[in-house]
Amino acid sequence: MLNSRRLILAHFWLAFAGFGLALLLGEWQMFIRSPLHAWIGDPEWYYRSVTVHGTAMAYVFPTLVAMGFGYTITEAALKRPLVGIRCAWLGFGLVAVGTVTAVVPVVLGLASVLYTFYPPLIGNPFYYIGVVLVVVGSWIWVALMSINLYLWKRDNPGRPVPLAMFANVAGSYLWAWTAVGAAIELLFQILPVALGITSTIDAGLARVFFSWTLHAIVYFWLMPTYIAYYTIVPRAIGGRLFSDPMARLSFALFLVVAMPIGVHHLFMDPQVGSGFKFMHSVFTALVALPTLLTVFTICASVEIAGRLRGGKGVFGWLTALPWRNPIMLAVAFSFVMLGFGGAGGLVNMSYQLDTTIHNTQWITGHFHLIFGGAIVIMYFAIAYDIWPHLTGRALVSFRLMRAQLWTWFIGMIVLSFPWHYVGILGMPRRMAFYDFTDPAIAPQAIPVMMSVAGGAILVISGMLFLAILIRGQRAPRITPDEYRFSVAVHEPRTVPLALNGFGLWLSLMVGLTVVNYGFPIVHLMSMPGTAVPAVIVGAGR
Ligand code: HEM
Repeated sequence: MLNSRRLILAHFWLAFAGFGLALLLGEWQMFIRSPLHAWIGDPEWYYRSVTVHGTAMAYVFPTLVAMGFGYTITEAALKRPLVGIRCAWLGFGLVAVGTVTAVVPVVLGLASVLYTFYPPLIGNPFYYIGVVLVVVGSWIWVALMSINLYLWKRDNPGRPVPLAMFANVAGSYLWAWTAVGAAIELLFQILPVALGITSTIDAGLARVFFSWTLHAIVYFWLMPTYIAYYTIVPRAIGGRLFSDPMARLSFALFLVVAMPIGVHHLFMDPQVGSGFKFMHSVFTALVALPTLLTVFTICASVEIAGRLRGGKGVFGWLTALPWRNPIMLAVAFSFVMLGFGGAGGLVNMSYQLDTTIHNTQWITGHFHLIFGGAIVIMYFAIAYDIWPHLTGRALVSFRLMRAQLWTWFIGMIVLSFPWHYVGILGMPRRMAFYDFTDPAIAPQAIPVMMSVAGGAILVISGMLFLAILIRGQRAPRITPDEYRFSVAVHEPRTVPLALNGFGLWLSLMVGLTVVNYGFPIVHLMSMPGTAVPAVIVGAGR
């Protein structure tokens, strides 16, 4: 059994509790602005809800999953207790305190600024301080991942770092660097205004800093999912990982190409030149590289499992796969959603095509399908896989798990496909109210109601997930085997130096950030008169 079970369980439970509450808010948002509900009269409630929903789903939930899974990997892959457990609890405490500090002002109506902060809107300083605490807590995790890896390498000179740990540390470094953009924006631009030290803000520059964090944050959300693809799925379905070096290369490439692409969120922003926009568009296309490598390697690994189970011929291995195994089901659903979401992403990344869907509900549909769908369904799989090793109790309700995964998949398709459609019709995102009696948008009423139904299915699925885990805490006691990761077809005895450490990839990551962000940032900072008056939001201000 894992040594730091309480620590890991604390991370997962806080993550999933926040997820459950935020899920309810998501459905409420969908419902009250649909034709099924009368106009609530005050948009403020809508924006409060979206701010809590976005903050919980985008910052708190995936960060805690990555941290909890990271500690699991450290102990299980390195086969030794976690070094720095007290610091790990401190990190957890900071994330928990930060979450409460951020959410309270939003609930009180003092910081409805959405999770992207939206300067020049400025909310209560405690909202931003809370977010900073969450990030600082997660940086403690980054440091611990690095220290544990260093100590293991010192004691095992020349041995290949276990793949799961290599990937885990790659994810932590990606997060450490990508969070820097938002941290600079918060500490040097937003907080001085929120604290009343200054009254103006360079909103254009702030958006550039935020884009440094967004888009790479998406790949941080994705890391636990990709780690599960490579190191859990082949083992869980009775197969072998097709290629260990290919897996390492994918994670290393994510470190390099995830960062210098965020300006694709600013295609419509006038303060960034079109040359840089085009450059970021091209770099965004490069992200397809590690993703396609992953799709190839995982499909090959799954095929190996099918053939080991006696599957023959071109398609026979598909029917031989263990479709009743929840992990098999989860990875299949995840790939389908990744495929559709990725295809939609091609439109977003294109400098030209993006103009047709920019800031429409297409975007909301896209990131729910990728994040809420392809990524989160593997978070469920991770929880199902490691729960018995954390609780010492069996998870026996396979039928419920399958029902949960099916409903999540169906719900996410029914929620997000109509969103894409109304986006193409031009429906803007982040609106508290749509007047469906207006003939111009009346045809969008039916797809919007379909999305409400999809959200309801997701709520049922999310609650089922929580119920399965709660039941798992009370199930009969077992003594689980040692927690293992997938074994590769050719287990590496040695790996090239570059794929056993991060020096090369981190230099490329930082170098490309400087090249792709250096000029726009320096240019904007050197321009006079770019600051605009802040717009203070919140009751009574
Ligand atoms: C029942 C399922 C869900 C429903 C009905 C739902 C609904 C919504 C709605 C209506 C919005 C606001 C869109 C707008 O204003 O245009 C939103 C935003 C968002 N949702 Fe969800 N959501 C759900 C699940 C999820 C999940 C599972 C995640 C991720 C794990 C997620 C992450 C986000 C994020 C990051 C935002 C952006 C908030 C912002 O713009 O500040 N949602 N969601």
